[in-house]
Amino acid sequence: MKRILGLIICGVLMMAQQVYAQDKIVTEVPLPEPDYQSGRPLMQTLADRHTYREFGPRVINDQNLAELLWAANGVNRPDGKRTIPTARDSRDLDVYVLKQGGAYRYNPDRHMLELVNPAALRYTAAKQDFVKQADVLLVYVSNNKNREYAAMHAGSAYQGVGLYCASVGLNNVVLGMIDKDMLHKELHLNDDDYVIIAQALGWPKKK
Ligand SMILES: Cc1cc2nc3c(=O)[nH]c(=O)nc-3n(C[C@H](O)[C@H](O)[C@H](O)COP(=O)(O)O)c2cc1C
Repeated sequence: MKRILGLIICGVLMMAQQVYAQDKIVTEVPLPEPDYQSGRPLMQTLADRHTYREFGPRVINDQNLAELLWAANGVNRPDGKRTIPTARDSRDLDVYVLKQGGAYRYNPDRHMLELVNPAALRYTAAKQDFVKQADVLLVYVSNNKNREYAAMHAGSAYQGVGLYCASVGLNNVVLGMIDKDMLHKELHLNDDDYVIIAQALGWPKKK
């Protein structure tokens, strides 16, 4: 009887470990290294930067996603500092990625995505219909007590992403009209975190 009980306990423990292992696999998504040679020159990119509110069905692949997240808030120096400046080097900005497969937090230090919610939040997060056609929605979040600084940090990030988009031919639009309360809840943010702004991205419609 003791042996059978022991075997049952072992079995349950092994199953639990497997679920934990599976959970680990789906909750962490590594991203490819950015190609630092890609994209068009800065001056051409600046000349081409503008808002587009039309998106085609093409999916943004992991390489482009990795590069635009790195542009938003990636580590660009050995000491861990970022592609955007932050007041007192606070590095308070978090970028959430709402895409097929769920909502993820970008982890700049590990250059990977962490699943926070498997639901398709990008369809309900924005208040304008055209956003439903966008493949990816970025949501900028901070817990900085100085909300002016936090907004500046988000602005630096969405401009970096906007320039990256112009440089590779992606469309993007910055979005103030979003459901911040819903996002706060569904992204499982802490009480002192707040949603600042969002940005919708996608490839253009084929002409
Ligand atoms: C802080 C901010 C909030 C914005 N919010 C929205 C928005 O909710 N919906 C939208 O369609 N465009 C939004 N935009 C895009 C602006 O309408 C757009 O940048 C402006 O019309 C100028 O066009 P341009 O980006 O092509 O220069 C926002 C832009 C910024 C900077």
